[in-house]
Amino acid sequence: MADIRLLHESELNLVLELCNQNMEYDSLTETLLREKLYDDPDFDNELTLIYLENNKPVGFMNGVIRNIRGGKTGFIKLMVVDKTWRRKGIARKMYQALEKKFKRQNVSKVRVYDVPFNYLMPGIDPRYTAALSFVESLGFKRFGDTANMIVSLSGQDFNTEAQEKKLVKENIIISRAGYDDAEDMLTFIDENFALWRPEVENMYNSIPVSLHIARYNGIIKAFSGHNGNNFGTGWFGPMGTHPDLRGKGIGSILLKRCLQDIKDWGLELSVIPWVGPIRFYSHYVNAVVDRVFWRYEKNL
Ligand SMILES: CC(C)(COP(=O)(O)OP(=O)(O)OC[C@H]1O[C@@H](n2cnc3c(N)ncnc32)[C@H](O)[C@@H]1OP(=O)(O)O)[C@@H](O)C(=O)NCCC(=O)NCCS
Repeated sequence: MADIRLLHESELNLVLELCNQNMEYDSLTETLLREKLYDDPDFDNELTLIYLENNKPVGFMNGVIRNIRGGKTGFIKLMVVDKTWRRKGIARKMYQALEKKFKRQNVSKVRVYDVPFNYLMPGIDPRYTAALSFVESLGFKRFGDTANMIVSLSGQDFNTEAQEKKLVKENIIISRAGYDDAEDMLTFIDENFALWRPEVENMYNSIPVSLHIARYNGIIKAFSGHNGNNFGTGWFGPMGTHPDLRGKGIGSILLKRCLQDIKDWGLELSVIPWVGPIRFYSHYVNAVVDRVFWRYEKNL
């Protein structure tokens, strides 16, 4: 007998198994799955659906609603159906249930996976061809693509001491952010890069704080961070430099400081997600394009 209902937290391991056995290009841990669901500030269990056949979970879909740029956007953040239960309308039924809830909450458009500041991947990896066909059959339109780059950390020197010394002469001081900087930092983020606040807040949970900053005459003007999303995976970013200070090499120093942190943690690779300025990362740290993602949207 089939049944769609809300997920119970005690079933998380079953969902983890479902994802890991049926998403061949990804591998999740329980920590990562918890982060994608319960650590999302907009997590809503009403949008977290499980599909059972004879009491066995064979489908899962999680949605989230973000109030961004003056409107409500709904997202499919995760979806999976057991390989042996595909093409039976299971994902479609879960999506239709989600869409009804989105409409009730006045969501104006829906996107797939590219959920700002807490996402597993910034769009559909087109190798998941069934997922492309699925969303297109529901009326989603592809509006762009993006990529994750990777950096091999071994054999690269990320020392930035000499460049930092030169900047001191211009009253630009680069350092790791401390807890004392948190208030200034969050003000800078709110004024310049408001959407990134949750990721930056998460960086204060790493030890040491996984955030580096540049101050000009004492005022924060640039930052870069890591481990703000997909914890423990070497996830770089975001980073940003105030327009006043661009073109002085500050971004490259901040980037390298983060990569050195990730290397010191013992990781061999860093992921630079949802890029962005490919030439910048390729030039300074030999980053290469790794996974490509297609982005989809549907107006409700
Ligand atoms: C994408 C996915 C969730 C679809 O689940 P599903 O239950 O098989 O989908 P449905 O049966 O509800 O399909 C609804 C419609 O989508 C389209 N569709 C789904 N899979 C398709 C496929 N393999 N080829 C062509 N069209 C497909 C069809 O139009 C289908 O309707 P139809 O069967 O009446 O023609 C499933 O393939 C899956 O779990 N894939 C792996 C997870 C994944 O890709 N995640 C994305 C990571 S980036």
